[in-house]
Amino acid sequence: MRVLGIESSCDETGLALYDTQGGLLGEVLFSQIDIHAPYGGVVPELASRDHVRRLPLLLRELQQQTGVERPDAIAVTAGPGLMGALLVGVSFARALGFAWGVPVLPVHHLEGHLLAPLLEGEAPFPAVALLVSGGHTLLMEVRGLGDYTLLGETLDDAAGEAFDKAAKMMGLAYPGGPILAQWAERGDPTAFALPRPLLDRPGLDFSFSGLKTAFRYALDKVRPASDQQLADLAASFQAAVVETLAEKCRRALGQTGHRRLIVAGGVGANKALRSRLADLASGARNREPIALHYPRLSHCTDNGAMIALVGGLRLAGGLVPAPDFPVRARWPM
Ligand code: KG4
Ligand code: ZN
Repeated sequence: MRVLGIESSCDETGLALYDTQGGLLGEVLFSQIDIHAPYGGVVPELASRDHVRRLPLLLRELQQQTGVERPDAIAVTAGPGLMGALLVGVSFARALGFAWGVPVLPVHHLEGHLLAPLLEGEAPFPAVALLVSGGHTLLMEVRGLGDYTLLGETLDDAAGEAFDKAAKMMGLAYPGGPILAQWAERGDPTAFALPRPLLDRPGLDFSFSGLKTAFRYALDKVRPASDQQLADLAASFQAAVVETLAEKCRRALGQTGHRRLIVAGGVGANKALRSRLADLASGARNREPIALHYPRLSHCTDNGAMIALVGGLRLAGGLVPAPDFPVRARWPM
């Protein structure tokens, strides 16, 4: 069965075709970063409008790439995300479903991220999953398809959002997370003593707003900052975020007893985080090594392939799609 996946929950328009037997047949993606960059963040109305423009063009491109005109089913992100952006994708999916006479099923965006490693052919479950993106930061226990427990989540900003806000304070372009990470490579992570929020307390929740404020104070104190001071600040900030994320992963693995860690979301590309998690995975105190699973980089961030995949797995598992489903800006998993 061939499933067309459609993702438009934020600032990426992604389409993909996934075959329940043959795997991923093709995918196309358009990132709106350049559209939102002048505003320093995603502008919801501009996002919706560009999804409207882009979806038919991307569909044509995917049809040419795969040679498949009409899939057997359509899977579309129905939440969580920006309401207008989601509605564009879902309306497009429903119109196609009607025209082609094929079922349309709703997919939870975060489930797409969690199962994205399956696109590489591996089924790394049961596992603990760390999802760290611009919109979400959470730890999840994944026992199998549809079997998830939320272990902890951010009480305020997402990790990527914190990176982007710190970068903005430094005067870096949007989205500043990866640029801040580059500055951090030339800096001393111990130069500034920034807080490790919630590390002194038990539990698996995150909080980054206090760290953001501490970063602002530290930056204000050294203004006008030299390049070395900026690099040191970036490194200190990154170290605080990375240490917090890694420690919560360690706790979650200990608590659940799982020996696999899935890392998804844009911040999963951060080199310092990857290196810290590699240390954690090979730690001398481990009973058995912890296996780390990263989706390929292009599937760490938003994409249509992970949505098509979830749709395919659900249909293969015997799910009968209901014709009507709600679109939800907020949708607890
Ligand atoms: O998964 P994603 O596309 O998130 C959302 O769409 O929400 O990831 C984007 C986020 C941005 O906040 C970006 O700054 C951050 O991931 N990011 C990074 C790095 N690469 C992307 N943050 C830190 N270090 C990186 N190397
Ligand atoms: Zn996402």
